[in-house]
Amino acid sequence: MKILFLNGPNLNLLGQREPAVYGHTTLADIEAMVRERSTKLGVGIEFRQSNLEGELVNWIQDAKGKFEVIVINAAGYTHTSVVLRDAIVAVGVPTIEIHISNVHAREEFRHVSLIAPVCRGQIVGFGANSYVLAVEAAVIVNGSK
Ligand code: DQA
Repeated sequence: MKILFLNGPNLNLLGQREPAVYGHTTLADIEAMVRERSTKLGVGIEFRQSNLEGELVNWIQDAKGKFEVIVINAAGYTHTSVVLRDAIVAVGVPTIEIHISNVHAREEFRHVSLIAPVCRGQIVGFGANSYVLAVEAAVIVNGSK
C-alpha cells in the first residue's frame, strides 16, 4: 500500500510560520514522523509540498493507479478551491483531509472546507500528529475499500 501526502501553500514555512498556531515543528520533521509510523505499519509514502494550486491538481490526477490513498493538507486552498475538489472527485482515489490547527476554532472562513464533502474524513487540530494519525486512517480506509 502507498499513501500520497500532499501539502499546500505556506506549509513549507512550518517551524517559523505563526508558531503560536502551528508550533515549531518543520515540514521535514513532520515527514520524518510520518515515515517512522509508515515504516512500522509496512506502508510506503510519498511526501510533497507545493504553493501552486495547479501542481496539486496534477499530483492528484497522477495518483490514480500509483497510490491507494491521498492525505491532503490543502492549507488555504481548503477554503477556496473548486479545482482541488473536482480533481479528488474525478480521480476517485480515497482522500483524507487533514489540518494541523483546529480550523473550526479559528476565523469563520476556515470553518468551510470545499473538499470535505468529497473526502472520506477529516483529521484536524492535533498539531503535527494530525499527519501521524492520517497514516492510521489511511490504512483503515484502504482496508475498507
Ligand atoms: C491549515 C489551516 C488552514 O486554514 C490554513 O490556511 C493553513 C494551514 C492547518 O494545517 O491548520 O495554511 O491547513
